[in-house]
Amino acid sequence: MARGERGGEETACRGGPFRLQWLGVNPARSIHNLALVGFMGTGKSTIGRVVAEHLQFGFVDTDGLIEERLGRSISDIFAREGEAAFRQYEKHALASLGQQHRLVIAAGGGLAADPANMESLKAHALVFWLVASPETILERVQTQTHRPLLQGPDPLAKIRALLAAREPAYRQADVFIHSGLRAPREVAQQIAHQFLMARQR
Ligand code: S3P
Repeated sequence: MARGERGGEETACRGGPFRLQWLGVNPARSIHNLALVGFMGTGKSTIGRVVAEHLQFGFVDTDGLIEERLGRSISDIFAREGEAAFRQYEKHALASLGQQHRLVIAAGGGLAADPANMESLKAHALVFWLVASPETILERVQTQTHRPLLQGPDPLAKIRALLAAREPAYRQADVFIHSGLRAPREVAQQIAHQFLMARQR
């Protein structure tokens, strides 16, 4: 489903040529990377790695980049410096990616919630929003402890609230893809295919 069609339906590959304009993308944009945005637990890193393999692109995960640069975990950054400081680190990480080419970028779940960050990503990347329901997200994240924002007493309520707040920003992505109930490899194949088709001009 291209941006503009509503809801969380799966995107459909219809066999015809996908052009950037077909996707509602300004063809003047200089797209040389692919970005995956969306909530925690929607599979951005897992799927992103497979997409990168398909396209023979490099892969970067913004959380991983921050952890590597600072030599500290995301949980530690949140605990010692708070979320606002983490968001600044995210912005710095993002700023360094635009000059790179042939990169699949898995963006931390809150990164694209900032409209300026989404703009920055869209300057060089075709942006895919991975969509999943709050229940699926909870199922995926509930045994994990590395996401400080979901460590409270009612993670489902937190997921719902954050998703509702972030959805308008996620909707600025170029393509929406449901990743909830499908195998990562299948979703990755579809993303790689759409990316290649969209770039044919
Ligand atoms: C966050 C998502 C996390 C990580 C941090 C904050 C968020 O990344 O950046 O815990 O605000 O949604 P993932 O989406 O890769 O889990």
